[in-house]
Amino acid sequence: MKRKRTPIAMLTAYDFPTARACEAHGVDVTLVGDSLAQVCLGYESTTRLTLDEMIHHCRAVARGSKAPLLVADMPFGTYHAGPEDAVRNAVRLVQEGGVEAVKIEGGREVVETVRRLTTIGIPVMGHIGLLPQRHAILSGYRVQGKSTEDALALMDDALALEDAGAFAMVVEAVPHAVSARITQSLQHAATIGIGAGCETDGQVLVWDDIMGTWGGHKAKFVRRFGDVRGEVERGVKAYIQAVRDRSFPSTSESYEMAEEELDRFHQLTKDQARRS
Ligand code: KIV
Repeated sequence: MKRKRTPIAMLTAYDFPTARACEAHGVDVTLVGDSLAQVCLGYESTTRLTLDEMIHHCRAVARGSKAPLLVADMPFGTYHAGPEDAVRNAVRLVQEGGVEAVKIEGGREVVETVRRLTTIGIPVMGHIGLLPQRHAILSGYRVQGKSTEDALALMDDALALEDAGAFAMVVEAVPHAVSARITQSLQHAATIGIGAGCETDGQVLVWDDIMGTWGGHKAKFVRRFGDVRGEVERGVKAYIQAVRDRSFPSTSESYEMAEEELDRFHQLTKDQARRS
């Protein structure tokens, strides 16, 4: 798709229904992102997510996903102790979680891990720019690569990841001119932007952001393509109202009994009541 200059549409999914929707409507790459921690599990940040929790969700997504390339984030702490640790944990994501590729955050400092994983046959997607797993040390979620030096460092990271065998990389919260230049400089690896302008090889957004189900902070780069939250609110309120005013269930939503059986039932319960 990079070669043909066809923009790649990547979207996150966290369970069977969201995976099925990605599958049915033509998403190219489904990502079980570690944003799962916040949007599904209610954690404050992605660093709380464990490998077992990630695998549990990957299994559900894998059951609903055939056509899109299925990628999973390696959770915080599962690839930092060294390449061998990363291999052990990535193999679990593939074997137990059913994913085809893994994504790891970082630049030159993770290339040995990328090399090791790709050598043993696990495709790796990198992730540069804003690295949510490092929010604590970065003092929050900030745009990256705004100075010439930082932009050059990002370029070096991207080239090093490609050289180590990464087939693609997420470029998050980076000025669009910088991500455009990185995209042009990479021969094979596709760039997937999020808050990185429209000149990357593809785009990714979080399911809950595009569907409008997430009620928390909305980043500048998020566009809402649906209002599922509004629909959910309308649905829940209408249900409660219908329960309260007894308009639900209607007769057509209820089961009938043959009239003679009903008459007999009424008669017998009346007799019983009289006796007691
Ligand atoms: O965790 C995630 O959902 C991600 C994407 C937003 C790139 O890493």
